[in-house]
Amino acid sequence: MTSVVHKPIRHDSAAKHVAGTARYIDDLPEPEGLLHAALCLSDRAHAKILSIDLSAALALPGVAAAITVQDVPGDPDIAPVIKGEPVLAKGVVEFHGQPVAAIAATDLATARRAARLVRVTYEDLPAILSIEEALDKQSLLMPPLGLKRGDAAGAIARAPHKLSGELRLGGQDHFYLEGQVSIAEPREDGDMMMRCSTQHPSEVQKLVARVLGRPMHAVTVECRRMGGGFGGKETQAAQFACIAALLALRTGRPVKLRLDRDEDMITTGKRHDFLVRYDVGFDDAGRILGYDLMLAARGGWAADLTGAIVDRAVFHADSSYYLPDVTITGYGCKTNTVSNTAFRGFGGPQGMAATEYVIDEIARHLDRDPLEVRLANLYGRDDRNVTPYFQTIRDNILPELFDEILASSDYKKRRQEIDTFNAQSPHVKKGLAITPVKFGISFTTTFLNQAGALVLIYEDGSVQINHGGTEMGQGLYVKVAQVVAETLGVALDKIRITATRTDKVPNTSATAASSGADLNGKAAEHAALDLRGRLAQVAAPLLGVPAEQIVFRDDMVSGGGKALPFAEVAHKAWLARVSLAASGFYATPDIHFDRASGRGNPFYYFAYGVAATEAIVDCFTGEYRFTRADLLHDCGNSLNPAIDLGQVEGGYVQGLGWLTMEELWWDDRGRLRTHAPSTYKIPTARDLPADFRVKLVHGRANPAQTVYRSKAVGEPPFMLAISGWLALKDAIAAAAGTSLVHLDAPATPERVLLAIEAAKRQAKAPTTMAAK
Ligand code: MTE
Ligand code: MOS
Repeated sequence: MTSVVHKPIRHDSAAKHVAGTARYIDDLPEPEGLLHAALCLSDRAHAKILSIDLSAALALPGVAAAITVQDVPGDPDIAPVIKGEPVLAKGVVEFHGQPVAAIAATDLATARRAARLVRVTYEDLPAILSIEEALDKQSLLMPPLGLKRGDAAGAIARAPHKLSGELRLGGQDHFYLEGQVSIAEPREDGDMMMRCSTQHPSEVQKLVARVLGRPMHAVTVECRRMGGGFGGKETQAAQFACIAALLALRTGRPVKLRLDRDEDMITTGKRHDFLVRYDVGFDDAGRILGYDLMLAARGGWAADLTGAIVDRAVFHADSSYYLPDVTITGYGCKTNTVSNTAFRGFGGPQGMAATEYVIDEIARHLDRDPLEVRLANLYGRDDRNVTPYFQTIRDNILPELFDEILASSDYKKRRQEIDTFNAQSPHVKKGLAITPVKFGISFTTTFLNQAGALVLIYEDGSVQINHGGTEMGQGLYVKVAQVVAETLGVALDKIRITATRTDKVPNTSATAASSGADLNGKAAEHAALDLRGRLAQVAAPLLGVPAEQIVFRDDMVSGGGKALPFAEVAHKAWLARVSLAASGFYATPDIHFDRASGRGNPFYYFAYGVAATEAIVDCFTGEYRFTRADLLHDCGNSLNPAIDLGQVEGGYVQGLGWLTMEELWWDDRGRLRTHAPSTYKIPTARDLPADFRVKLVHGRANPAQTVYRSKAVGEPPFMLAISGWLALKDAIAAAAGTSLVHLDAPATPERVLLAIEAAKRQAKAPTTMAAK
C-alpha cells in the first residue's frame, strides 16, 4: 500500500497556472539596469555575407551594444552534437531567418528598431530547399542509419502481393505558449547567472560558458518552469541564452532576450518533415514478408539532433509489427531551411506513421479490414518478437490491449454501422481506424540515461528537493515530490519543490525522451532512501528496535509499538550531528546499441497504447470532424493517474494537430510563410473529438525495475493520433469508392478534398491503375 504515489494528485502549479500567477521567465521581476535584446535575421536562404554594418543601429539613442559573431570572446560553435553551428552566422547564412547580429537597448522597441537598421550585404549562393533535392545531391548531415535483417528484396520479389509508394509527412511547430526567452545577469568575478526557459539547463550552462570563454563553474542556469517545451527547448534554447549572455558580458548589464511569436517560428527548428518510400511484399492475409523502407528527414541547415531523431524514426518504423525480412534506411538531409529539432516522439511518430500507412494500403489492396491486417502482423509474445535492431520484446501487452479496446469501443458493431451509413450517404462519409503504439523508452544515446538529485531535510522536518529534470507542464515536479514523500513517509505538503539549477545538480541530461520521471524519480528515490537510512539509525535507539524494522509512514517514524513524529526524528538527527543532505544518482541498466552493426538493446522497456478514432468528412469541401475517440494507454503503475491522463489527452490532440491541421509552408525563396497563429492552426478545445474516452491501462506494473513500476508517458500517446489520420483515409476510400487512396500529412481539409478527387479519378481509370 502506498499513500502518495499512484494517486491522482493535481499538478503542483495547477492553481497558479489557472490564476495566471505561475511565474515564467518574462514574469520575473526585472533586475536593475536590464537591457532588452533583439535579433537581426537573415533574409536569404543561402548566401555569403559580404559585410555587416552596425553603425546605424549603434547610433540609435538607447542602444547599448550591437554584436556579430566577431564579438564572441570564446568558441562561437554551440552545436550540441556535430560541430558547425555558430551562435550568430559566420561568413555565410544558411537559412532564411538565421540570426546574424544582436542588439541590446534600454527598451524592447528600440532594440527591435535597431535590429532593422543593421545593414548586411550578401552574395547569394544556390539553396537546397527540398528533401528530394538534398537526396539527389547527397546533401546529408550525417551518414545514414541502416537496419537490415534477412533479404528484403528477395522476400518482396517472391511475395504473392507487392505494393510500393511514396508518402510525405509534414513538420510541426512546437507552439509552446511561452516562446524562447532568457535573462543573463553578470555577477561577481565574471560569473553569469542565467534564467532560461530550457529543457536542458546543463547544456545551456556548457554552451554559455563556451561562448564566453569561461569554465562551466562560472555559469549557473536556473529554470523553475517552462510554458511548454515539447522538444523545442531541448537544444534550441541555448542559442538565445548564449546571445543574451554575450550581450550581458559586452555591456556589463543584465540582458533579456525574448523572441516574439513570428521570430520564434521563423528562427527555431521544428518537427522534421519526412519523405517516405516503401516497397512491401505480403501474403493473402496481409502478413508482411519483405519490407524495404526509406525514411528521409529534412534536417535543415545544421545537424542539431537530426542524427538521433532519424535513428528513432528508424527504430520505430516497425511500429508494432514483426518484419521478417527488412531493410530500413534513414537519411538526415541537409537543406537551407531552419534546423529541425526534437519534437514529442523524436522521429518515432514519423517512422510509425509510415508503416501504419503501409499496413492500411496492404489492407485496402486485399480488400480487408485494416484491423485484421494489423492483428496478423502484430508482434508475438514468445515468437515473432525480435525487432529489426535485434532487441527481443519481452513485455508485449498489445494483444490484450487490442481485445480491450475492441470491446470498449464497440469496434465491430460500429464498423458495420459506418459501412451502412456510408452506403446510404452520398456526400458525407464516416471513417474509423484503430492503431497501436509501441514506444521505446530510453535515450538511444546510451550515456544520456543518467540523472542526479539533491534532497535536503531541515531540522523542522520539512524537505526540499532538487533534481536535474525540468518542468514544462508535464507534471515531473509533482511526480518526483510524490516519490520522495512516499519514500520518507511524509505528506506531500512537507516537500518543497525547487527550481532546477545547475549549481545544485551538475551534468544533467535534457528532460526529454519521456524519461524525466524514470531517471530523476529514481535519483531522488535513491537520495531519499539514503536519508531514511540515516534517520532510522537515529530513531532505532529511541524506539528500542533495530533500524531495519522501522517504518516511515503518515509523518511518523514507528517501530516496536512506538512512534515518533518525523519532524522530531529530523530534529534529533540534527542534534546528533547527522547529515540531512543527500544526493542521489541513477543510470538506466541493461541498455546498449552499436550503430555500426545496427544491433543492440537501445530501450529499457516499451510503453504501449491503442486508439480507435472515428471521423466524419464532408466530401464537397473536405472539411471533417472527429466524432469519437477511444484511447487506452499503458503507464505501468502510474505514478500519478491525473497527470498521466492529461499527458495522454494532450499528446493525442497534439498528434492530431500534426497529422491533420498544422501546416508549415515555405515559399520558393525558402521563407516560412506560416509563422503566426493567423496562418498556422493548432488544435483548440473545439477540435477535440466530440465523444472523447480516455483510459489508462489498469493493474499492469512495469516488469522493468522503474520507479514504483511506472512507465514513461510524455511522448508515447502522441502516436495514438495516427488512428485519426487513418480514419480520414478510411472515409476518403468510402467517398471515392476505391481502395487506392493517397493521403499525405497533414490531412488538411484541402488535402482531403484533393485526395477524394484524385482517388475518384483513379477509380474511373482502371488502365492507369493496372499500369501502376
Ligand atoms: N507536456 C506538457 N504539458 N508540456 C510539454 O512541453 N513535452 C513533452 C511531454 N509532455 C511536454 C509535455 C515531451 S517532448 C517530453 S520528452 C516529455 O513531456 C518530457 O517530460 P518527461 O520526461 O518528464 O515526461
Ligand atoms: Mo521530448 S521531443 O524528447 O523533448
